[in-house]
Amino acid sequence: MTTLSHGPSGSPGSHSSEEGDLVAGPAAPPPPGVRVRDLVVVYKTPLGELPALGGVGLTVDPGTITGIVGESGSGKSTLALSLLNAVQPPGRIASGSVEIDGLGDVVRLDGDPLRRARGRHLGYVFQAAQNSLNPLKTIGKQLLDLGRSHGVADLAALVRDAKDLLGRMGLDGARVLDSHQHELSGGMRQRVGIMLALVLNARLVILDEPTTALDMITQATILRIIREIHKERGLTTLMITHDMGVAAEVTDHLAVMYGGQVVEHGRTTEVLGSPAHPYTQGLIRAIPRLSGDITKASALPGRPPTLGTLPKQGCVFQERCPVRMDVCATVAPPPVTTHGRTVACHATAAAPPLDGRKEQP
Ligand SMILES: Nc1ncnc2c1ncn2[C@@H]1O[C@H](COP(=O)(O)OP(=O)(O)O)[C@@H](O)[C@H]1O
Ligand code: SF4
Ligand SMILES: [Mg+2]
Repeated sequence: MTTLSHGPSGSPGSHSSEEGDLVAGPAAPPPPGVRVRDLVVVYKTPLGELPALGGVGLTVDPGTITGIVGESGSGKSTLALSLLNAVQPPGRIASGSVEIDGLGDVVRLDGDPLRRARGRHLGYVFQAAQNSLNPLKTIGKQLLDLGRSHGVADLAALVRDAKDLLGRMGLDGARVLDSHQHELSGGMRQRVGIMLALVLNARLVILDEPTTALDMITQATILRIIREIHKERGLTTLMITHDMGVAAEVTDHLAVMYGGQVVEHGRTTEVLGSPAHPYTQGLIRAIPRLSGDITKASALPGRPPTLGTLPKQGCVFQERCPVRMDVCATVAPPPVTTHGRTVACHATAAAPPLDGRKEQP
């Protein structure tokens, strides 16, 4: 089992996919990469089956902390669940693939291999993790159940590692393991969720809104721990958040979702520094501490689409886009990758290369 050392925390942009930077033990395999292709996930609604993900493509480089941002309803949680092949009815993965290094296409996994992959290869913190614990069992009992169900031989080491992780997140590990969930605050339960996602040493860790419902100080602590553990264990981490500030602080790559599509993806510093997609530009303008000028912060006009109000053809963002063109109403813009930045927008495709381009006022 990997032991934790209290190393310095990485700063945004400092994470490296170079194995030499990572302290995951000499025998540890490299962190896994992820390739999502043409992923369509539909939910059954009174209007029939409607797509929550409309053909998502996303490549996550090994060893990165990739943020997935976007307004509520953009499909972030659905994408996260798809990475575990855990979309529940009334939803289903209709088509596409999710290739994870070391696991293959998880869309094709089921039964025991899928169950073993969750936890061992894929650590996951559900949105509202504080509600996903079993109210009838102590945290320690749930930890042992988790270990046994994954065939962990050394349960004492598992408990030690759990206490260590909880300790680093500012909790009394022994006390927490002896507690039932109702004896813990929301913030404590959130940290228990993070511990459970990490304790089996999964190398791909997916955190869905891990700091929502936490106060600012606890949030800062958790973000620091996520960065530290990511680096020490040599993980690939996906961090889903609707908070661009959190994404700016923690991630080195950023994927922006809108209406069930990834509309922009690239290095966080570049996406935030010179956003190319009109939606990303609008999101950043709406956040005073990112736009840098409180007086100029302006909310994104309009409302995000629901499954029933998504445009049937053309660009998903057309109804709110300030630079919409005729073609946008009929032709969906294909994602185009230039210099490591992927953008799906007709206007960007027609513009000069991204390098050195500044955000339009
Ligand atoms: N169980 C469900 N049944 C029907 N629609 C759902 C269900 N879960 C999510 N959706 C819809 O799918 C879309 C994407 O949701 P979600 O992935 O939760 O977005 P996000 O995490 O970005 O807020 C939304 O329009 C949401 O209403
Ligand atoms: S494709 Fe058209 S509507 Fe969509 S974001 Fe680009 S310019 Fe706007
Ligand atoms: Mg969500």
